[in-house]
Amino acid sequence: WVIMVTAQTPTNIAVIKYWGKRDEKLILPVNDSISVTLDPVHLCTTTTVAVSPSFALFRIGCGLMGRYQFSCVFPFFSREIRARACDVEDKERGIKISKKDWEKLHVHIASYNNFPTAAGLASSAAGFACLVFALAKLMNAKEDNSELSAIARQGSGSACRSLFGGFVKWKMGKVEDGSDSLAVQVVDEKHWDDLVIIIAVVSSRQKETSSTTGMRETVETSLLLQHRAKEIVPKRIIQMEEAIKNRDFASFAHLTCADSNQFHAVCLDTCPPIFYMNDTSHRIISCVEKWNRSVGTPQVAYTFDAGPNAVLIAHNRKAAAQLLQKLLFYFPPNSDTELNSYVLGDKSI
Ligand code: DP6
Repeated sequence: WVIMVTAQTPTNIAVIKYWGKRDEKLILPVNDSISVTLDPVHLCTTTTVAVSPSFALFRIGCGLMGRYQFSCVFPFFSREIRARACDVEDKERGIKISKKDWEKLHVHIASYNNFPTAAGLASSAAGFACLVFALAKLMNAKEDNSELSAIARQGSGSACRSLFGGFVKWKMGKVEDGSDSLAVQVVDEKHWDDLVIIIAVVSSRQKETSSTTGMRETVETSLLLQHRAKEIVPKRIIQMEEAIKNRDFASFAHLTCADSNQFHAVCLDTCPPIFYMNDTSHRIISCVEKWNRSVGTPQVAYTFDAGPNAVLIAHNRKAAAQLLQKLLFYFPPNSDTELNSYVLGDKSI
C-alpha cells in the first residue's frame, strides 16, 4: 500500500529584503523582511510525498533544489515533521499508521518546477516550503503554517515566507533557539489583486556568489548592513505594512525600490564587493525611474534579488501593458542586451 500527498507552492519575492544572518545554523536573520507570494500558476514547485512499507517507490526529483542541498535538508525536515506526526487512518483501505510507525516506514519524494530551473530564477524558497508542507500533511501534523514556517526557514531563510499567499512578513524573532522567527501573513492574496508582477529575465546564468556565501561575507565586513538592520529596516517594515494595508501604491513603490537599492548597496559595501546587477539591470532601473517621474505618480516598482533579473510590480494591468511596451522598445528581442524573455509572475491574472 501507499499513501500520497501532493502540494504546490509558489515562490516569493521580497519587497523588504532579508540579507544577513545572526545565526547561520538556525538561519535567523538580522532583520524582518516582507515578501509577496506569486500566483501558483507561475514559478511554483509541485511536490508529491508518499509513504509505504516498501523501499524506492519513485526516484527523487530535485525540483528547485540542487541534489546536494536537498539531501542535506531532507533528513532534518523529515525528522522534524516526524516528531509532530499524528495517527493517519484510511478506513476504506484498512490502513492505519500510528505515531510510532512513522520510524519504520519509507518516505518517497518527487518534486518539479513549472519553469526551467536553469532560467536564473531558481529559488529554493518554493521547493523547501512545498516539501515541509507536503510532509506535514502526509504525517497529519497539526501545526499551523506559521509553525511550519520555522522548519522551512531552516532549509533556506526565504522559504518560510512561501507558506502563505498574499503579502507575508518574516519576523526575525528575538530568542536564541529561533522559535519566534516565523512567517505571518500581512494580507491575503485577494487584498491587492490588481497588482501585476513581471519578471524580466536578464540573464539565465547561475549567480557567481550564492546568497548564503554573500550574506556571510556581508555580515563579516559591511558596516552599512549594521546600520540598515538597526536603523532603516525596522521603520521601513512599519511603513511597508501600512502601504500594503492601505493599497498605497506610491508608498509601496518608493519603499520597494529603495530597499532593493539599499540591499545592492550593502552588497557593494561588502569586502570583496558583490555585484549582482549588471548594465541591463541598471538600464531597467533608469527606464522605470524616468517613466515614474514623467507620469508624476509611480506606475511600477522594481526589485532585484541576488542576481540581475528584474522583478517589476505594476500598479495595474494598464501600467503592466505600458511597461511591457516600453521594455520591448528599449530592449528589443534578440538585440545585444541579454534581456530576451519575460515571465509573468502575476498574482492576479
Ligand atoms: C536576496 O533565502 O536564498 O532573495 O537563507 O542562505 O538560503 P539562505 O538565503 P536565501 O536568501 C534570499 C535573499 C534575497 C532576499 C529575500 O528573499 O528576502
